[in-house]
Amino acid sequence: MEIVIKHLLKKYNQKTVLDIPHLHVRKGQITGLLGDNGCGKSTLLKIIGGLDFDYEGEVLYDSLHFKKENRQIIGMVSQNPYLFKRSVYENIEYPLKVRGIEKDKRKEIVNQFLQNMYIEGISSQRADTLSGGEAQKVALARVLAAAPKILLLDETTSNIHEEAVLIIEKELKAYHQSTGCTIIFVTHNQAQAKRFCGACIHLDLPRK
Ligand SMILES: Nc1ncnc2c1ncn2[C@@H]1O[C@H](COP(=O)(O)OP(=O)(O)OP(=O)(O)O)[C@@H](O)[C@H]1O
Ligand SMILES: [Mg+2]
Repeated sequence: MEIVIKHLLKKYNQKTVLDIPHLHVRKGQITGLLGDNGCGKSTLLKIIGGLDFDYEGEVLYDSLHFKKENRQIIGMVSQNPYLFKRSVYENIEYPLKVRGIEKDKRKEIVNQFLQNMYIEGISSQRADTLSGGEAQKVALARVLAAAPKILLLDETTSNIHEEAVLIIEKELKAYHQSTGCTIIFVTHNQAQAKRFCGACIHLDLPRK
């Protein structure tokens, strides 16, 4: 899906945090989103993800306004991901249950994610006891299991060890190649943006 933003103005208590005249996120591309702390990257992702409608301007998905069916096709991993207070396995399995996938197939898919992300060892651990990096990996596996067409990733690899970052990038590339989904990838790492993203958007801090 293509995402187009027109004349977006977002304020928190009179303070402008986003002022974007026009922005185009190409369909099927991995777009990096970069900018200083506090420039509004997470806010923009929440708006595109349909978690915040308190703004002026337009956000269009293939030329249409947000509709509730979009919830099923948009996957988001927020900067501090929320996981259910259940096991890692159950967290990743949940979207597969929602999609009506039968138990044996679910097991196969969850185990594949656990293996690909090198987190087999924490499969039965409760998600609220995980380290920051582990939680990011589980949140990413869970969102991929939901098979989204738009994937919004907010510093998903920021807490993750260098080698594991490359593993996650590989996993994401494979998902991107097999589905042609649109990805917005927030990062502070210029080198990562260069190697991983097909295009980059640099957000400026809004003028006072
Ligand atoms: N709920 C809120 N109420 C008031 N101000 C907020 C709220 N959420 C965010 N802000 C402010 O809006 C601005 C943009 O925040 P946002 O989290 O989008 O920045 P960011 O670009 O993601 O930063 P970072 O790189 O640190 O994650 C910041 O100045 C922040 O303090
Ligand atoms: Mg942020």
